[in-house]
Amino acid sequence: MESTGSTFPKWQLAILIGTPVALGLGYLYWKNQNQSIEEGTDDDKTELKKKLTGDTKSISIDGDTAKSASSNANSPTTNASNGIPKEFESKQFKKLSPFEKAVKYKESGNDCFKNGKYDGAIELYDKAIEICPKSNSIDLSQFYQNRAAAYEQLKKWSNVSDDCTKALELNPKYVKALHRRARAFENLKQLELCLEDVTAVAILEGFQNNNSLIFADRILKELGLMHAKEAMINKEPVEPSTNFVTSYFKSFSQDPIHKVVVSSTEPKGFLKASKAFKNGQYNEVVSACNEEIESSEDDSDYKLEAILLRGTYYLLSGQFDKSLTDFNQVINNKDADPKLRSNALTKRASLQMQTDQREASFSDFEAAIKLDPENPDIYHHRGQVYLLVEQLDDAVNDFTKATDLAPKNPITYVHKLYSEYRQAVNEQDNTKLFAKIEEFSETVKNYPECIEVYSLFAQILSDQQQFQLADDYFEKAMNLEPNNAGLYVHRGLLLLQWKGDINEALKLLEKAIEVDEKCEFAYETLGTVEVQRGNLERAIALFDNAMKLAKSEMELTHIFSLRDAAQAQLNVTKKMGLTLASLMSNLPNF
Ligand SMILES: *[C@@H]1O[C@H](CO)[C@@H](O)[C@H](O)[C@H]1NC(C)=O
Ligand SMILES: *[C@@H]1O[C@H](CO)[C@@H](O)[C@H](O)[C@H]1NC(C)=O
Ligand SMILES: *[C@@H]1O[C@H](CO)[C@@H](O)[C@H](O)[C@H]1NC(C)=O
Ligand SMILES: *[C@@H]1O[C@H](CO)[C@@H](O)[C@H](O)[C@H]1NC(C)=O
Repeated sequence: MESTGSTFPKWQLAILIGTPVALGLGYLYWKNQNQSIEEGTDDDKTELKKKLTGDTKSISIDGDTAKSASSNANSPTTNASNGIPKEFESKQFKKLSPFEKAVKYKESGNDCFKNGKYDGAIELYDKAIEICPKSNSIDLSQFYQNRAAAYEQLKKWSNVSDDCTKALELNPKYVKALHRRARAFENLKQLELCLEDVTAVAILEGFQNNNSLIFADRILKELGLMHAKEAMINKEPVEPSTNFVTSYFKSFSQDPIHKVVVSSTEPKGFLKASKAFKNGQYNEVVSACNEEIESSEDDSDYKLEAILLRGTYYLLSGQFDKSLTDFNQVINNKDADPKLRSNALTKRASLQMQTDQREASFSDFEAAIKLDPENPDIYHHRGQVYLLVEQLDDAVNDFTKATDLAPKNPITYVHKLYSEYRQAVNEQDNTKLFAKIEEFSETVKNYPECIEVYSLFAQILSDQQQFQLADDYFEKAMNLEPNNAGLYVHRGLLLLQWKGDINEALKLLEKAIEVDEKCEFAYETLGTVEVQRGNLERAIALFDNAMKLAKSEMELTHIFSLRDAAQAQLNVTKKMGLTLASLMSNLPNF
């Protein structure tokens, strides 16, 4: 699959960094750890403090402090049926001001609530709301909020959201009401509105409350998946980028496309399609394959090859259904060359992985091995999948097998080293770890022309915080392949991690797009950096670009999550009249 100049193909990366909240709601979350915010009422601040200290007991109702003895719900003055006290009929009560009456009703309501008498509580909050002067807006907002809490207990979600909305009209930064309305919207399946509220909560809490962030993360994933499913229906095919295709075929040493010697005469059919593929003339691939496939039996030497190649093109351009049909045709042809069938099976396995059918993927690899047990490509690709799912021992086994079968292939060999390195990290085995780094150094010397070696080694060095050395290797790789956009992205990320050098990183990310305008990874990463700088509009535009280039539902889900997070932040900051800059003003220069 698409190499980004990294260990993992693009779609695998999408899964690996599938924690959108940390990225999407990003900046404040990791830069604003020790700050509290100035906006909001005192109420909100206590609220915030309670949340941060993990005080969730009093999460439901507000205004519960000034408790009068007479309003104890267990006292004999209470009507047993609904818990409403008789005191409201007393002369004494009738002399109180409307506001004082409202407070009494609320207090009784709170008592009912605590005794699980939610209908009674609602009735009392009704009375409190009815009688409370509009000028006591903060108290009034509390009464609505409390009634919403009672409705929540009864799972009357539209009433919950209506009451929270009223509370928020009176007190727009009322965190508890926002949080409760978010829960109501989630239950009402109004996920965009839910996300907006939970984002507002996260912002008001200075991104410091894990519970809200986990909530936001859950909604982002759900919303991302929903949006991706909608978008997949009308998804246009994506013409793959040259880098993508080149590195894809590099990962198949035994692909039939490599066997073809392009002659001086103008090729036709499959040979023409292969040439078109190699020259980056992708719009000619399908028609040339069709020419071969539709020719009469006798004329065609490469009918199945053409079907396989067409299926490969469909796979690389994100047309999975068509791709599957072609692969199936090759796989189900029992008379076909086992090499062709195993190649089709290996490709189908990676397709299955992209469509999240893990078991089907592994069984395709098994079938491929049965047909063609000495084919290193199968082990190489399965090794990549094992790396992805963190089955490091299995990954090492497969890359070792692939290396035994193709000892001169540096790409497979460095993947073996990389997975062994990861194993050593997991096992906390420093001796092995340093040995692997040493082997990498040797390999770089032995294969000075192989960018995969440089790129993987640079990633390990960066992992080991040897940033300067890592940067040198990225630079070498970039000199070899100045148009490999993935390398620019990785180097940009390295600079961010190493020096916090946002300007240099941005330059590299912009450059990545300049050298390859089809590099989805670059748009996505640049968009993420822009979110973290508070440039939400630009981030959204970049995510839109990334989306056009995404191929699988899984990739789309991830990008939608990032986009939705940015959009929600934009909506909230506009609505609340906050600027992210105002929230970030005391932060280190990022
Ligand atoms: C309490 O119950 C009595 C009858 O049982 C009723 O007349 C009275 O209105 C009730 N009080 C309240 C506050 O609902
Ligand atoms: C609760 O919602 C229902 C409809 O969902 C509505 O008929 C009813 O009036 C609401 N109650 C309150 C107190 O808002
Ligand atoms: C919040 O989450 C971060 C990262 O997942 C974790 O390190 C931290 O311990 C969590 N804090 C609390 C209070 O749970
Ligand atoms: C942001 O606001 C727009 C327009 O009001 C709305 O359509 C969209 O659903 C909102 N998106 C999110 C994620 O809140």
